[in-house]
Amino acid sequence: MSDQLTIEQLANEYENRSPLEILEYALGNYGNIAISFSGAEDVVLIDMAKKIKPNFRVFTLDTGRLHPETYQFIEEVRNTYNINIEVFFANRDATEKLAREKGLFSFYRDGHKECCDARKVDPLKRALNTVDAWITGQRKDQSPGTRTSVPVIQKDPTFGTGDLVKFNPIANWTSRQVWDYIRENNVPYNKLHERGYISIGCEPCTRPVLPGQHEREGRWWWEDATKKECGLHAGNVKR
Ligand code: ADX
Ligand code: SF4
Repeated sequence: MSDQLTIEQLANEYENRSPLEILEYALGNYGNIAISFSGAEDVVLIDMAKKIKPNFRVFTLDTGRLHPETYQFIEEVRNTYNINIEVFFANRDATEKLAREKGLFSFYRDGHKECCDARKVDPLKRALNTVDAWITGQRKDQSPGTRTSVPVIQKDPTFGTGDLVKFNPIANWTSRQVWDYIRENNVPYNKLHERGYISIGCEPCTRPVLPGQHEREGRWWWEDATKKECGLHAGNVKR
């Protein structure tokens, strides 16, 4: 409990600090920590981390359903920053069972949970078993239905045994700030962003948005805005 208070106090102390300062704290105080990289604009975390230290862990969850551009981008990031990116694959048994029983697009009928559990949450759990803390690219402005209260540092509300710490260094940044950083620092980006995609996830569950539409409207567009969490950040959804 006192530890819980410590994380909350730390979160309050860091709430108005820059992403770089939050990352510096995270990488400086946790040896066993990794950046969770989706292959989209969260690449800014890798660029910042590289300015802090030469080596740090990065993992990505390969659902098997990403766009070719995303796979190419993950490889480009690996080469540009000269880092190893640990790839955690979807659960084989669960995806085979789901495909056998319901086909490859059951999420359009049944909702995305079953598929996300097998393809994203299972590999995330395996990745998180290897760390004491993780770093995500979640932002408050990404999802008005679910992310408006994301703190910059928190005890993971969903995974681990209560001690896992979750850093969200760019929680308070807007999309505009992220893209200013990408341009000013010559950061490589996923080529899908040149084709109207803002928020990028799996290929069947992501589409470009029209001018004026919120970025989250391009994800699981057939579902309610309050359900637009795939399970990686399920703690954001108030029950
Ligand atoms: S999701 O839950 O809706 O899929 P989103 O795409 O907004 O998440 O990304 C938010 C953060 O979750 C990313 O910055 C990243 O830290 C993590 N994340 C999402 N998808 C992946 C993935 N495939 N691999 C690794 N991390 C991911
Ligand atoms: Fe499956 Fe879509 Fe979830 Fe990807 S985002 S794991 S394809 S339901």
